Amino acid sequence: MTDLDVRAATPVDFDFLVDMLVEAVNWLPERNWSREQILANPALAHYVAGWMQPTDFGLLAVDEAGRPVGAAWFRYLTAADPGYGYVSDDVPELTIGVVENWRGRGVGRALLRAVLDAARARGISTVSLSVERANFAARLYAAEGFRTVESFEDADTMVRTLP
Ligand SMILES: CC(C)(COP(=O)(O)OP(=O)(O)OC[C@H]1O[C@@H](n2cnc3c(N)ncnc32)[C@H](O)[C@@H]1OP(=O)(O)O)[C@@H](O)C(=O)NCCC(=O)NCCS
Repeated sequence: MTDLDVRAATPVDFDFLVDMLVEAVNWLPERNWSREQILANPALAHYVAGWMQPTDFGLLAVDEAGRPVGAAWFRYLTAADPGYGYVSDDVPELTIGVVENWRGRGVGRALLRAVLDAARARGISTVSLSVERANFAARLYAAEGFRTVESFEDADTMVRTLP
């Protein structure tokens, strides 16, 4: 990732994480959910609501001016309020997004690898995510060691073990 740094996400990054959640939801060009719609939808808003909780962690890729260009973060959701990629209460779920004009340049893969390293460093042994099968991101995840553990109509739940 030339000219880019990676730094830990902090509480002040809430707005940018919302931006990236909006990108993750709207990965389909014909889908155009507004920020307000997404934040009003509990099944989506819970990926960022109240950021940052004590068990939340994530990374931002930033350009040479310190502007964020991508983020990858983990949050623990529970059986009472499960994420789309819920596996169990002790498996955090990943959200990842890269600003549109930075995509396809290796930022996403680098962020993914770095946030998996951060999870491993915390002693986490398994992480999960949900991806709509038609999203090329599913191939990125598979190439980075995620495997599908549950399939729904359009989406797969994938997990990655961290040896
Ligand atoms: C998914 C996303 C995070 C990947 O980040 P990125 O910086 O674009 O990805 P990278 O440049 O690291 O590329 C990763 C791989 O995907 C491939 N890829 C990138 N853009 C692609 C595209 N538009 N179509 C198909 N493959 C693509 C790359 O070729 C690369 O594979 P390769 O190294 O084997 O060539 C980013 O594209 C994004 O934010 N998309 C919208 C939000 C989203 O879908 N989030 C995930 C929801 S589950």
